[in-house]
Amino acid sequence: MANATVIGAQWGDEGKAKVIDYLTERADVVVRFQGGSNAGHTVNANGRKYVFHLVPSGIASPGKVCVVGNGVVFDAEAFLAEVDELIAADVLIEGRLFVSDLAHLVLPYHKALDTAAEFGRGALKIGTTGRGIGPAYTDKVSRSGIHVGDLRDWNVFLKKFIRNNDAAIERLKTPDGEPLADMSNLDEDKVITHYHKIRERLLPFIKDTACYLFNAERDGRRLLFEGAQGTFLDVDHGTYPFVTSSNTTVGGACSGAGVGPKSIGHSVGIVKTYTTRVGNGPFPTELTDDIGFHLRATGNEFGSTTGRPRRCGWFDSVMVRKAAQLNGFTRLALTKLDVLNDLDEIKICVAYEIEGKRTDQYPTNARDFEYAKPIYESMPGWKQDISKCKKLSELPDAATNYIGKIQKLCYDIPILLVSVGPDRSDTIEVAGL
Ligand code: GDP
Ligand code: IMO
Ligand code: MG
Repeated sequence: MANATVIGAQWGDEGKAKVIDYLTERADVVVRFQGGSNAGHTVNANGRKYVFHLVPSGIASPGKVCVVGNGVVFDAEAFLAEVDELIAADVLIEGRLFVSDLAHLVLPYHKALDTAAEFGRGALKIGTTGRGIGPAYTDKVSRSGIHVGDLRDWNVFLKKFIRNNDAAIERLKTPDGEPLADMSNLDEDKVITHYHKIRERLLPFIKDTACYLFNAERDGRRLLFEGAQGTFLDVDHGTYPFVTSSNTTVGGACSGAGVGPKSIGHSVGIVKTYTTRVGNGPFPTELTDDIGFHLRATGNEFGSTTGRPRRCGWFDSVMVRKAAQLNGFTRLALTKLDVLNDLDEIKICVAYEIEGKRTDQYPTNARDFEYAKPIYESMPGWKQDISKCKKLSELPDAATNYIGKIQKLCYDIPILLVSVGPDRSDTIEVAGL
């Protein structure tokens, strides 16, 4: 297998982790490059279910190395809790999991700032995961962040932490001194004592991971980059301001892992065969009727990080075409086709109507997108269980027609695989990598 980068083509939760897990067999190193513990990545393999937030999904495959790159905002407490769960599940971690010294730390004050910012947005709430993601990236870009590598020298960490924690406490008070968020986790002495312990556990994981990846590639090892969130949560190209605070699109893999563009290899777009979104913001094909409820219940569409119900709707080809443009997809992986098993009719959004005009192209103007009316084409459902199908030829015609229609609407990009169930084995591989 060539290197590959797995990118969500919609609003996240497309099944990226399932595809990463499936491809890990052919890779040597799996790398997360952006986002933080806002991600919820589910892997079902060997009779077990794992939900990852910061640890790359490749850890479920014995012997593979996993790297948390510099572009990730790193919640050390969340990371170590995940490591503990893996150890309890007898997953060997030692020598297999590294964290970039240049990743920025998410600290308790970031979470309090996240909550307060959401509160301050009133009706324009983003619906963040509350994991401190926006404030941590804000500190990074405003050059007051704290690197994971700063933990190597306790005094360096301490000085920066006290400066930032004090500043956050001030920001979290009204002019009258009233608290704007729960401050109970910002007690300086408590956090310092806790992080002193955390530091001891974390030190063995910290590495110059960009250098590690460079040498790994020179030694002929294959890299698999694991995107978090999805294209339309990208801070530049997504449905701003209802986005996350990182570049979720493929370019983020270069800056967030510290590799050159040739290392990206295949750009694999993970495409759910319908659409979901968690949190607020426009969603042209959203279904608030019985079909929407059916998709949520059948697809188990509840956030893996916050447990919130995901909003559900029909497949939107205008968005996925835009995702293909932005990410240069060379393969598509179609997921959750089995969730559509019981539907009589399946609709596909082929274009939008905006101010009375039809357009095939995704509008970058937020207002146009908000008022875009989906233009649908309808296809018959297959009304049977496809989850045991192992080859394309075993699928009913209506299902292959639906796949063909999606592919045609998305520039005929070759389809790497079709996923028909949550398990690693519920996968129909179509094109190679
Ligand atoms: P990610 O964030 O993109 O990695 O996706 P999540 O793990 O948050 O959400 C995808 C959910 O769908 C998880 O519960 C997966 O186990 C499940 N899943 C993945 N692929 C399939 C599929 O083809 N069919 C069904 N029924 N479930 C799937
Ligand atoms: P994975 O990797 C779906 C959404 C939140 C909110 C917005 C901003 O599992 O696909 P943030 O906490 O990042 O500041 O929230 O982004 N969001 C996700 N939605 N899947 C995710 O990750 C998400 N990570 C963040 O719901 O709307
Ligand atoms: Mg998810």
